[in-house]
Amino acid sequence: MTETKIYGHRGCMGTLPENTLLGFRQAIELGADGIEIDVHMTKDGEIVVIHDEILDRTTNGSGYVKDHSLKEIKQFSAGMNYAHFPNYEAAWNLERIPTLQEVLELLAPYKIELNIELKTCRFKYEHLEEKVLSLVKEYGNGRKVIYSSFHLPTILRIKQIDRNAEIAWLLDQQISHPKDYLQSLELEALHLSRGTFFSEVFSYKDLLEKTRIWTVNDMDGLKQLLDLGVKTIITDFPEKALFYRSERKTFA
Ligand code: G3P
Ligand code: CA
Repeated sequence: MTETKIYGHRGCMGTLPENTLLGFRQAIELGADGIEIDVHMTKDGEIVVIHDEILDRTTNGSGYVKDHSLKEIKQFSAGMNYAHFPNYEAAWNLERIPTLQEVLELLAPYKIELNIELKTCRFKYEHLEEKVLSLVKEYGNGRKVIYSSFHLPTILRIKQIDRNAEIAWLLDQQISHPKDYLQSLELEALHLSRGTFFSEVFSYKDLLEKTRIWTVNDMDGLKQLLDLGVKTIITDFPEKALFYRSERKTFA
């Protein structure tokens, strides 16, 4: 059984501002096997790493990402909204929404996997897929990249543009015959919500090495998924998950 990998969700969103270089650096330092990030497109066609369509929750900006240029977006702080975190430091205020290129450049020296979630459920960003693939080709340094989306046509377009791209379908509901989807759509994996997976574990029993499960932060969930040997656990607290995985090995 291959060891279950641990990915930091939006970097280390349980302890640091989500989708920031600060969080990604921390995930690298911790030795996470991968990070999960979210991408949208600015008004001037740049790919930026942020979870929501709007700026309001995670930054001191306001309005849609798609209505701002990159220059405008770079003026907002991606750290100051996290002053309620117990480990908050004023230096976080200097964090900015990173571009995908900046994230790829940060990761370049490291052998860390990258899951890029294309956030296309609400807006259809023109040529998002082409732009993401081309940035990865130029700055990805050959790393393993998994392209995921809740919106199935997005990942199918990715595959159409690049036959070798590894695509995964994000699901928070059951589908019938998951193996059929994996095979017929040439999916590298299914990215299932914790609830979706646990409510019908038996449906996935032969597909454990093709399932990444999000977002798992509790010890009970971590333990069960490590025991089952799912491909990857995506967690807000990679430090905790990595520690727990190594402790298990020590006492095995
Ligand atoms: O990729 C797994 C997970 O990130 C999907 O949900 O809302 O956290 O982007 P969300
Ligand atoms: Ca995500």
